[in-house]
Amino acid sequence: MILTCDLMVLLQNGTYLRNGPGLWDVGEHSFHHIFDGYATLVRISFNQGRATGAHRLIQSEAYKAARTHGRPLHREFSSLCPRKPGSLLDRVRNIVGLSSGTALSDNANVSVLPLGDGRVICLTETTKSSVLIDPDTLDTIGKFHFTDRLWGLLQSTHPVVTPTEFLTLLPDLFRRGHRVVRMAAGSNERKVLGRVHCRGGLAPGWVHSFAVTENYIIVPEMPLRYSVTGVLKSELTPWYIFDWVPESGSYMHVVCRSTGKTVASVEVPPFMALHFINAYEQRDDDGGTGVIIADCCEYYADPAIIEALALHRLRSPGINKDAFPDARVARFRIPLDGSARGDLETVVDPDAHGRGVELCSINPAYQGKEYRYVYACGARRPCNFFNSLTKIDLAEKGAKNWYEAGSVPSEPFFVARPGGTNEDDGVVISIVSTVEGEGYALVLDAASFKEVARVRFPYGLPYGFHGCWIPKKI
Ligand SMILES: [Fe+2]
Repeated sequence: MILTCDLMVLLQNGTYLRNGPGLWDVGEHSFHHIFDGYATLVRISFNQGRATGAHRLIQSEAYKAARTHGRPLHREFSSLCPRKPGSLLDRVRNIVGLSSGTALSDNANVSVLPLGDGRVICLTETTKSSVLIDPDTLDTIGKFHFTDRLWGLLQSTHPVVTPTEFLTLLPDLFRRGHRVVRMAAGSNERKVLGRVHCRGGLAPGWVHSFAVTENYIIVPEMPLRYSVTGVLKSELTPWYIFDWVPESGSYMHVVCRSTGKTVASVEVPPFMALHFINAYEQRDDDGGTGVIIADCCEYYADPAIIEALALHRLRSPGINKDAFPDARVARFRIPLDGSARGDLETVVDPDAHGRGVELCSINPAYQGKEYRYVYACGARRPCNFFNSLTKIDLAEKGAKNWYEAGSVPSEPFFVARPGGTNEDDGVVISIVSTVEGEGYALVLDAASFKEVARVRFPYGLPYGFHGCWIPKKI
């Protein structure tokens, strides 16, 4: 496609990549949940006023085995136990398969990230799912082999990546906590920076994502906790691999980025969030850090979003039924003065974005700093899934929305204009699927939130989760 002048002014040459589940049926087996599908990358490259695209399945061991055998052989999110084990021997086999990692999937279908050294990694929540890909050809290069000896089955699927480091959390299922680990750019060796001790329940809270400020790492602990007994018994709970334990409390922990020490651990109102948007430090009158502000896409302390993403729910023709859980931009205030409790409040009237907010991005230059704009998927009610894009202004407490009937847009990813000075100087890119089965990349001017281009694919595209931007090397 030939691009418009407006877009060429706003966008440098480079490649947008998006990862997500793209294949939910193998042989006669159909997956149950959107999180289960085999990872599919989509690429749109912008070069001198032209856009070209491609897509490709990640060649994970799980996908290749399923293709060879005509059915899944590894455990995806909702298929912890494809065949219920009947005997003690089956149960022992399950435990061995899980503890050794052989039964877990390496289906890296959630995020795609350029590391500081230029390598591009795709991830999901099992550590074995860390896969390197070629951003130009979309070839699967192979596993990202960690050279350390840090044993752990799980990881946060949203590490914080800077030009110099990679920070992530490794949940410790048996000692109820998380190791905070750091890996220098160019290295394959993670080093433990510190450890967070979870305070409630029998297992750590699920950490799909977390936030950082300039000096701290913010570790959430919500009542949706990993189900250790469910995993060991190879059984699904009502929340798949989690237990919802509201009586176990909700907490926020603050870890110092330089010392690894936990400097605050406060109880907060109950919450349910998959994605943290950003966090920053707010100074007190003396110039010291008074509180940490941490924002997230929050579901009013209700885990129903997990079941709302089951495929039979998403494929339901009841489009006029308002069947999607309400969400809001929620803000934690975490005191650093030793107080026992933190606050949680709604930042913007949720009706401004249709009571839907998920799959968010910000200007990356503002990560860890005070910021104003959030780009996210929103909702136009009634709906049973995200069906709009929203730009939320945290200062003016309002939103601009993009909506087209019958279209399903995925995460709007912000790309800054080269040389831009305003926080919203740039574009957001989202891949849209239409009810007619078509697919295109939508490019919006981030400031006005108006369309500046759409790049049509000659075929439909599956829904996806998260993207990234790789500037073209000059
Ligand atoms: Fe995510």
